[in-house]
Amino acid sequence: METRVLKSTNENIKYCAELIKRGEVVGIPTETVYGLAANAFNENAVMKIFKAKKRPADNPLIVHIADMDMLRELAEDIPDTALEVCKKFWPGPITVVLPKSDRIPLVTSGGLNTVGIRLPSNNVARELIRICGLPLAAPSANLSGSPSPTTANHVFDDMNGRIPAILDGGSCSVGVESTVISFEGDIIRLLRPGKISVDDLKTVASDVVVDKGVLEIISNDASVKSPGMKYKHYSPKADVTLISGSVEFFEQYVAKHNSAGTYALIFDSDDISDSIKAVRFGDSSEQQAERIFAVLREIDKIGAERVYARCPSKEGVGLAVYNRMLRAAGFKVIKEGD
Ligand code: TXA
Ligand code: MG
Repeated sequence: METRVLKSTNENIKYCAELIKRGEVVGIPTETVYGLAANAFNENAVMKIFKAKKRPADNPLIVHIADMDMLRELAEDIPDTALEVCKKFWPGPITVVLPKSDRIPLVTSGGLNTVGIRLPSNNVARELIRICGLPLAAPSANLSGSPSPTTANHVFDDMNGRIPAILDGGSCSVGVESTVISFEGDIIRLLRPGKISVDDLKTVASDVVVDKGVLEIISNDASVKSPGMKYKHYSPKADVTLISGSVEFFEQYVAKHNSAGTYALIFDSDDISDSIKAVRFGDSSEQQAERIFAVLREIDKIGAERVYARCPSKEGVGLAVYNRMLRAAGFKVIKEGD
C-alpha cells in the first residue's frame, strides 16, 4: 500500500477522519509523539494497529478523546483524584488508567479490564477526534521496540507501505510520551514518567508512588502494572551505555574505549576532546525530552556501533528522559566511583 504524507490542512484532516471511520489506521501528530490512530470501538481497525506496529497483543493501547463526555462513556468508577488530574492537566500529556466500560473492546485494552485515556492538547489531534466523533486508540507510531517518532518523517521511515496516510503536524513539542498513572484510593501510581512530573502530581494526590518498572528491569514473564514496561524499548541498533558522573569522568572513560564506531551522546554545553565523535542532545531536561528520540534515530543513521551517553537529570521531565535512555541502554549504567 502507498503511504501518503499529508499536510494537516482542514481538508486533509477531514480526509483522514473518513479513512478512520472506514476502519483504517492513520499516523497523527500529538504534543508528545506521533500516534497510529484507529477507531477504538472497531476491533478490526484496532487489530490493524497491532499488525502495522508488530506489537504484542497483550500491550494495551491508549484511547484519545476530545472532551469529558467521552471519558464518562469509556470509564467506570472514576475516582475523585482522577477527575482532579484530568481537570488540572487536560488537555495535555497525561494518561489516566481507569476501569473500562463495556464499550471498549478487549483487543483495545490488551485483554485488561482497565483502559488508559488521554485528552491531547495538539489541535490537529483534537480536531481529528472531533470530526470522527469517536475515541481513537493510538500507540506511538514506531515499529515495536524502536524509538518513538517525533516527526512525520520518522513515522514514514517505520510505516511506509504499512498504513495509508500520515498527517504531518510538524515536530512534537514535548518529545517524550505521556505520563501514565493509575489510582489506589487517593494515591497515584506512576507507571511511565512524562512531562507531567511527580511534583506536578503531588499537587493533586495525597502521595505519588513511582512503580518499580520505571527504573528497574522487569522480567518478561513478571506480572506488571503496565505491560509496555516489560518489552525492550527505544533500542537503537547501536550498543548504548549510560555513564553517570562528571563530564571529566565521562571523557576519560570514553577516551579509553574509543574506536571507529564509537560516539558520545553529550549535553550541548559539554566540552570534550575533538578526538571523540559526539552527538549533542540539549542542556535542559525540556530540550533533552524534545530531542531524545530524534537523536536515538540519528545515531543509527550515522552508523554508530557503540554509544556512550551522559546521564540525564532525574528531576521533572528529566525522569522521563532518564527512563527512556535507560531502556535504550538495556539498563547498562557505568557509575563514577564504582
Ligand atoms: O504520549 C503518548 O502516550 C503517545 C501518544 C500517541 O498519545 N502514545 C503512547 O502509546 O505512547 P504507547 O502505546 O506507545 O504506550 C502506552 C503505554 C504502554 O506502556 C502501555 O503498556 C501503557 O501505556 N498502558 C496503556 N493502557 C494501559 C492500562 N490499561 N494499564 C496499564 N498500562 C497501560
Ligand atoms: Mg510506544
